[in-house]
Amino acid sequence: MATLTAVNVGMPKDVPWHGRTVYTGVYKQTVTGPRMVRRLNIDGDGQGDLGGHGGEQRAVLVYQLDSYRHWAKELGRDDLEPGNFGENFTVDGLPDDEVCIGDRYRIGGALFEVTQPRVTCYRVGLRMGEPQMAALLVAHHRPGFYLRVIEEGEVEAGQEIVKAASGPEAMTVEEIDRVLYLPGHTREQVERALRIPALSPGWQASMRTLLDQGDGEAAGASGSAGLNPAATAPPPGWPGFRPLAVTGIRAESRSVFSLNLAADDGADLPPALPGQFLTVKVQPAGDAPPLIRSYSLSGEPGAATYRISVKVEPHGAASNELHAHIRVGDRLQAAAPRGTFCLAEGDNPVVLLSAGIGVTPVLAMLHALTRDRSTRQVWWLHGARNSAEHPFARESRELVAALPHGRATVFYSSPAPTDRLGVDYEQASRLSADRIPALGLPTDADAYLCGPTGFMDSVTAALVDSGLDAARVHTEMFGAGASLTPGIKGDKAAPAPHQPTGPAGTGPTVSFARSGLTVPWNDAQDSLLELAEACDVPVQWSCRTGVCHTCELALMSGSVEYSPDPVEPPADGNILICCSKPADGIVLDL
Ligand SMILES: Cc1cc2nc3c(=O)[nH]c(=O)nc-3n(C[C@H](O)[C@H](O)[C@H](O)COP(=O)(O)OP(=O)(O)OC[C@H]3O[C@@H](n4cnc5c(N)ncnc54)[C@H](O)[C@@H]3O)c2cc1C
Ligand code: FES
Repeated sequence: MATLTAVNVGMPKDVPWHGRTVYTGVYKQTVTGPRMVRRLNIDGDGQGDLGGHGGEQRAVLVYQLDSYRHWAKELGRDDLEPGNFGENFTVDGLPDDEVCIGDRYRIGGALFEVTQPRVTCYRVGLRMGEPQMAALLVAHHRPGFYLRVIEEGEVEAGQEIVKAASGPEAMTVEEIDRVLYLPGHTREQVERALRIPALSPGWQASMRTLLDQGDGEAAGASGSAGLNPAATAPPPGWPGFRPLAVTGIRAESRSVFSLNLAADDGADLPPALPGQFLTVKVQPAGDAPPLIRSYSLSGEPGAATYRISVKVEPHGAASNELHAHIRVGDRLQAAAPRGTFCLAEGDNPVVLLSAGIGVTPVLAMLHALTRDRSTRQVWWLHGARNSAEHPFARESRELVAALPHGRATVFYSSPAPTDRLGVDYEQASRLSADRIPALGLPTDADAYLCGPTGFMDSVTAALVDSGLDAARVHTEMFGAGASLTPGIKGDKAAPAPHQPTGPAGTGPTVSFARSGLTVPWNDAQDSLLELAEACDVPVQWSCRTGVCHTCELALMSGSVEYSPDPVEPPADGNILICCSKPADGIVLDL
């Protein structure tokens, strides 16, 4: 018979951590007497970061006494008390390898349903004083699990836990945790998980991605797509940087020019996916270190050569250097194409939406659709200032015209007197969010957006308001991505990326390609993630100990050493920055 041993609650509070403040509800105190359990919380309980914890699907966290005994022995701790793992219910019985997703349990006056394993997050490590706890919980197959409250009611320590129903598919908490976080799951396991209606929507989405990746694996993808979409791309076409010969230079508009790049030996270059980008080293005159910049491939994917198209930015170091000095016959050091902003296969409509130089990755997608004689509905929507600032005007019109179901709407915000309405452009306005509803876009479309951040944010919201599925709106940022720092209080806006303060490191160089920053490694940092944070380079993380893959990203060149080793290795060509240090000079897609 299983028993509720302790009921633990706590409201979120500010906790100092690594010089920052974390707002967290992981600190729980055991309470006596009856407690009301409601749909979202036990009375007196709360979560600090509702993005990762809490809500209807994760209302009550459960952990077992047997696991307490395991960790006391494993960690040599005699100070562990109920609530230390951030759980609401400490229970005797209900082990993770017996409790199944969808099982229902009655405790006191309330009825519960098991929805998912615990989320892997650094805060349990913070609470326990064991930074690697999130990874250990997965590696030792003892995550604990969340309950949804089906019937609200009072509960009290000492009450019996009565099983009211068994979940379909008999998939235990331990098994599904292993499917997502550890190597070696089968398609059958993922399909079983997806047949459990009680599985939380978040985990269902991860399982669906794993299923899709099954097909991707056939195309060479590696790593766990259920944890990070960065794992969905096939491995890079070559390691590190290699020289590519400039075989052509062409002006595309007043401020944009294209470079054609070919293999030094004249062989075909490895095919890139439509939407991927190339990272190049631009060598300024003198002894200055190379500038590392990324450029989306704008030509036909699968062609023997690559084309990149560069906008000359006022005061932009690399774009002006290239514009002023690059010549046919020169060599440019380039890392293999990478990126997950790629045209997905399907027969539903495609909306390709861009502003300014954001045209490049979606132009490659348009090329791919035309090359494949796609019968999909294709909407080409592009915003430019006027014809002088409209690269690929003719090329894109011809590509759209070659599609049986293609249509183009070009927006000029400031048409020149000679620009022809209906020929050069369709609408004399910006391509902004308020234009979207009138376009009548098909709601079952996949949309691909590239342009300035504000444009993408507002247009994404408008597309979703118009009925498109948010999961089908894909965006590409031409710069550092958004950060994801769960629970960290952001009192002030982060400064632009900079050299770390304090004495300079003496280790190998670490280049953050998207941030345009190169710094020497400093052994004062425990990981590349910590170095990035010291430089205010935007980063994404959750567990900080190699299990959740939130920090997974592409390593363009060089190699790293891990400590601790990731629970599941990242995809080929990617690394986890939270548990790695550079082994030699490296370039990161960060
Ligand atoms: C995945 C990805 C794909 C990309 N694809 C493309 C692409 O297809 N085409 C493309 O053109 N770019 C693309 N970019 C952007 C590209 O990598 C560079 O960031 C861009 O070319 C600017 O680099 P830069 O060295 O010229 O400018 P930087 O010197 O890095 O300057 C960055 C910005 O700061 C401004 N700035 C710099 N110094 C000053 C100053 N003193 N005063 C005022 N302003 C200043 C510049 O105008 C510029 O806008 C992409 C980026 C990513 C991450
Ligand atoms: S933050 Fe979880 S693996 Fe790096």
